Amino acid sequence: MIQTVRGVHDLLPGETTLWQFLESEALSIFRRYGFEEIRTPLFEKTELFARAVGATTDIVEKEMYTFADRGGDSLSLRPEGTASVVRAFVQQSMHRHLPWKVWYRGPMFRYERPQKGRQRQFHQIGCELFGPEGPLADAELMAMAMHYLTGIGLKDALVLEINSLGCLACRAPYRDRLIAALRTSAAQLCDDCQNRLERNPLRVLDCKRESCRATITRAPVMLDHLCPGCHTHFAILKDHLTGLGISHQVNPLMVRGLDYYNRTAFEITAVGLGAQNAVAAGGRYDGLVEQMGGTATPAIGFAMGLERLALLLDGENRHTLPMEVYLVTLGNAAEQAGLKLADTLRKAGLSVELNLGGGSLKSQMKRAGRSQARFAMLIGDTELANNVVVVKDMLQSQQQEIPIPETVNHMITLCRTSP
Ligand code: HAM
Repeated sequence: MIQTVRGVHDLLPGETTLWQFLESEALSIFRRYGFEEIRTPLFEKTELFARAVGATTDIVEKEMYTFADRGGDSLSLRPEGTASVVRAFVQQSMHRHLPWKVWYRGPMFRYERPQKGRQRQFHQIGCELFGPEGPLADAELMAMAMHYLTGIGLKDALVLEINSLGCLACRAPYRDRLIAALRTSAAQLCDDCQNRLERNPLRVLDCKRESCRATITRAPVMLDHLCPGCHTHFAILKDHLTGLGISHQVNPLMVRGLDYYNRTAFEITAVGLGAQNAVAAGGRYDGLVEQMGGTATPAIGFAMGLERLALLLDGENRHTLPMEVYLVTLGNAAEQAGLKLADTLRKAGLSVELNLGGGSLKSQMKRAGRSQARFAMLIGDTELANNVVVVKDMLQSQQQEIPIPETVNHMITLCRTSP
């Protein structure tokens, strides 16, 4: 038997119902903030991700699904959505339409070690906001993320962590300071961190290995070395969040695994997910549009992992949608009449499961019960002869006969008025 690739999953009916809910809430809530959906390709030129996400990041160095197409071009499945959105922004000259607010949903691909909440094909809902430079936009975006997460039913379990990663002006001297500090105890760092030390030293701060913790806690942090502009930006952001009643924690060690960030970085973690507890993450990337060849435009965004949201909302339960009507038919003539009746009821807007594959009255009624339909309708030879159907209320176990020509109106009224 051929199975799915490791770290890649089917979403079965029932699970998809929950996912549709997650997506429709995004559509509805983001719309209120002026965001519209964008759909970008699942694969792009490898160079896009190398330049946008950063050639020395784990994502680009170790995790991309990269292949040569038949023309010899190096392409990669997208490991995240921001690079493509920025490419689209530049390619379509969207700097003429600021502020440009877009959201996206869909699969992303990273060759990571699979575990709970971490897949190789996973799904994100993300938002990107181009144009505004001040902390008001940062606060509004975080408020929107929290609005969405609480709106889908995650209330108490969320923690919003924020940090500032400084700007080009203040990060370079800080980076030198950090490297100097880390070098003094380089021998205590793990192999990965020793490697990162020269190439991407901020990532050392993010290492979760116990052996690196002592060195990291002594290292200087960006927050203590912000320039006045970055300092003010961060201070105002905190005030805005407080003003909105959004509780938040400053985490000076949060650095993020993508290189494009500056100033504000944030993560929203949730209790109950284990090690992979970040449900949403993002930040500012004011230099990226220009770096990708566009007109300099500040921007900020975030993305949420749908698998993690689904795990939190519902570990095991399935949300198969109940049907409104289950149609039981007994005999060939009744089957044919049932097919027609189901067709008419569906075209009138009702959800109808027509019994397929025959069976006795008892077995068909059992299936009707399992389908969780609110009503069962029954047609046999006697009903056909009298031009009626039997309608059974499955909750109240009452039944009545309805003339076939009246069924549509009757069933619509019943379905609309029944709890
Ligand atoms: P990220 O932190 O790499 O950021 O991913 C955002 C979220 O996607 C994570 O917090 C997590 O919920 C989910 N996620 C990431 N990797 C996996 C995985 N292997 N399996 C399951 N879920 C995963 C970004 O991707 C940025 N593009 C976010 C952003 C948008 N920044 C600015 N704009």
